[in-house]
Amino acid sequence: MSDTDQTDVEQSGVEGGDGRKRDLIFPPWTDHLVKLLGMGAAFSGVYVVFLATFGLSPNMYAVGYMPEQPIPYSHALHAGELGMDCRYCHNSVEHTGYAAVPPTQTCMGCHNQLHTDSPKLAPLRESFSTGEPIPWVKIHDLPGYAYFNHSAHVTRGVSCVSCHGRVDRMEEVYQVEMLSMGWCLECHRAPAENLRPVSVEEVESLIAAGLLSDGTEGEGGLDPRAILDDARVTNLGWGSEFTRDDRKAMGTHLMKERGLLDAEGIPTVRLELLTSCSTCHR
Ligand code: HEC
Ligand code: HEC
Ligand code: HEC
Ligand code: HEC
Ligand code: HEC
Repeated sequence: MSDTDQTDVEQSGVEGGDGRKRDLIFPPWTDHLVKLLGMGAAFSGVYVVFLATFGLSPNMYAVGYMPEQPIPYSHALHAGELGMDCRYCHNSVEHTGYAAVPPTQTCMGCHNQLHTDSPKLAPLRESFSTGEPIPWVKIHDLPGYAYFNHSAHVTRGVSCVSCHGRVDRMEEVYQVEMLSMGWCLECHRAPAENLRPVSVEEVESLIAAGLLSDGTEGEGGLDPRAILDDARVTNLGWGSEFTRDDRKAMGTHLMKERGLLDAEGIPTVRLELLTSCSTCHR
């Protein structure tokens, strides 16, 4: 997180957390904390100590939250090693606000033949025969007064990895981000480095601008559709070879094309709307 955004993170991340409505005006001593938290690396430590000291429960700020699940389902195996696309199971993520955890039937598509007597899968077989859903424990959970929408992000080329980390390497999913208002705003102010192309036209435009390689040194080059598929939001490792500056340049170009920045790089009304209260509190 950048230095300029500390205040938001601080305001949204330190107070409350117990679900109570809290005042936006903070007593002067919180200024002290802003400075303390400004010390970067010390951030998480200070935060934890602060919470412990003041007896607040972290709730959705709980980075690292990893509740025990009824079945030891592994993303590292299914999404990583087996290479299953996230949308095979979280199939509503592009079309609705909600990402949906898959029903038992999705698992049974394979596990009616595979590992049919694995004790780990006993709850799955039971759920299948009784029709009772598996009681998966929800990990990421925003308070009801904050409006979030998956499709608004993934159809704009914000990858799952920006908010959930390398889920494809996790044996058990855990929360990697604070999900605080400050965290949302930090990206909403300057989303560039989190944006990927979402159409053939955008891929072509990035290549023409010299911001994305078409994969070959000489003539020819990869089909833009192949590049687009590689850059899909569910390919969590995409772009790891780019530097942060590359990502920013690419995203800035996309922001201009999408009308979030004008030709000079000045934020448009559309970008400013992303930080207006009614976008997330409706
Ligand atoms: C084979 C089905 C399957 C695939 C493929 C899959 N998931 Fe999941 N996912 C699940 C199940 C089941 C859960 C609930 C249990 C758990 O949390 O591990 C879950 C939970 C999650 C959660 C936590 C949800 C919460 O409660 O907050 C996230 C985030 C997530 N998946 C992201 C991903 C991403 C990103 C990918 C692609 C890289 C992916 N999943 C691929 C089945 C799948
Ligand atoms: C596309 C096929 C496919 C789907 C769908 C699928 N799995 Fe799997 N699953 C596999 C394969 C393949 C293995 C590993 C086989 C091996 O290498 O032993 C596996 C292994 C497992 C194991 C380990 C079993 C053991 O005894 O070691 C668990 C638990 C599991 N899957 C749970 C789930 C759950 C829960 C879902 C639904 C959310 C699911 N799987 C969906 C293919 C699938
Ligand atoms: C811009 C950040 C962001 C992106 C990008 C994102 N998520 Fe989420 N995800 C969240 C937040 C925030 C929640 C908690 C939502 C709530 O509690 O209302 C969440 C919750 C989930 C859940 C739990 C079910 C639900 O909808 O509450 C799953 C599963 C999930 N995400 C999977 C994915 C997958 C798969 C992708 C990529 C295709 C993805 N997410 C992309 C932020 C994001
Ligand atoms: C990693 C970057 C990132 C993070 C983190 C993020 N967003 Fe976004 N969000 C975006 C982008 C990019 C858009 C789409 C901008 C566009 O092109 O219009 C967007 C759009 C939205 C929209 C739709 C606005 C509209 O009217 O179309 C909502 C609502 C939203 N975000 C809520 C949230 C909330 C709530 C959080 C925190 C829990 C959050 N976002 C975190 C990048 C992010
Ligand atoms: C990009 C999305 C986003 C925007 C824009 C946004 N908020 Fe929030 N806000 C959230 C999220 C997510 C939470 C819940 C997490 C938290 O408390 O940090 C929240 C929490 C709050 C809370 C805390 C309530 C409590 O119980 O502690 C207040 C007050 C608030 N917002 C007011 C505002 C005001 C005023 C604005 C406009 C200046 C605004 N928000 C703009 C996402 C947003």
